[in-house]
Amino acid sequence: MQLKIAVLPGDGIGPEVVSEAVKVLKCISEIRSIDLLFDYADVGGVALERHDTPLPSETLDICRASDAVLLGAIGDPKWDNGPSDKRPERGLLGLREGLGLFANLRPAKIYPGLINASTLKPEIIQDIDILIVRELTGGIYFGKPAAIEEDRGYNTMVYERHEVERIARIAFDAARKRNKRVTSVDKANVLQVSQFWRKVVLQVAQEYPDVELVHMYVDNAAMQLVRWPKQFDVILTGNMFGDILSDQASMLTGSLGMLPSASLGAKTALYEPVHGSAPDIAGQNKANPIATIASVSMMLKHSFSLLEEAQAIENAIAAVLEKGARTPDIADTKTTTLNTQEMGDAICKEIENILP
Ligand code: IPM
Ligand code: MG
Repeated sequence: MQLKIAVLPGDGIGPEVVSEAVKVLKCISEIRSIDLLFDYADVGGVALERHDTPLPSETLDICRASDAVLLGAIGDPKWDNGPSDKRPERGLLGLREGLGLFANLRPAKIYPGLINASTLKPEIIQDIDILIVRELTGGIYFGKPAAIEEDRGYNTMVYERHEVERIARIAFDAARKRNKRVTSVDKANVLQVSQFWRKVVLQVAQEYPDVELVHMYVDNAAMQLVRWPKQFDVILTGNMFGDILSDQASMLTGSLGMLPSASLGAKTALYEPVHGSAPDIAGQNKANPIATIASVSMMLKHSFSLLEEAQAIENAIAAVLEKGARTPDIADTKTTTLNTQEMGDAICKEIENILP
């Protein structure tokens, strides 16, 4: 059977990190004789450049026809001052909406080799294993009305019952396979939309008597994440709060360059690093490809049920870090600094050792 992967390198460091992730996929497909087909397409600033739209319809078609989508990064300061429909980010939002990718999974786990790369004390972050389940196609990102006018700008934060129910079920199902604890993050002390969110989450929780549910206001959650992150297992939250908390959670693990993500929908799914396009280091072969490579591990697990291969990638990343190999973002005086391509090569080499 052939597996079709749409590859969207995007902007900035996107092409560099994606190319290492594709290298890893090819390495696994060779060892395991898996038939992979890569279909490249444009999205974001590069698509604006070439097609005058951040999301050409051809790109959406290629993604719809794929079994999984691999995306690099989106964003280029060049487009910062243009109209909002001509921003690279629109491409990503259009993909999420167009592919119905409502569930965004962002795991934050610490690799033992990286304990000292975090700005937090080792005893605070040791053994953290958090899964952020972020709602991705609703909330303030997509609510109507929204506009920018001469003397005001506004957005609408709205959640429908079915949107909260389906994302809550994803979180509770995930918690069942983990440490059975869901922290639902909202701003129910101020926002009606959050009071509604809380009510629906409580109702869904009735179906999961074996999972503990805690409600937390988002400001408190931000504080608790750095105070005592080990209290979290699954964090269930809306689109914007999830955006903010996942960047914050990434720093627990030492670098934004480490965090992978999966965006799941009914049909295809999209995998991308949590980090952005980092235009300041683009084209210099020094970006950290680990988040994208770890995203490929999530792809093998969630889209293709290739559990052993997915685990091999995880183990290879851990092994490489254990040996002291680092890209500049996570380097210190006792480590060996690798460039983007060398890091990809090192991880492939480990995979060859791990996979029989
Ligand atoms: C993310 C990013 C996106 C978001 C941007 C690029 C639209 O920050 O995936 O976290 O806000 O969702
Ligand atoms: Mg973000």
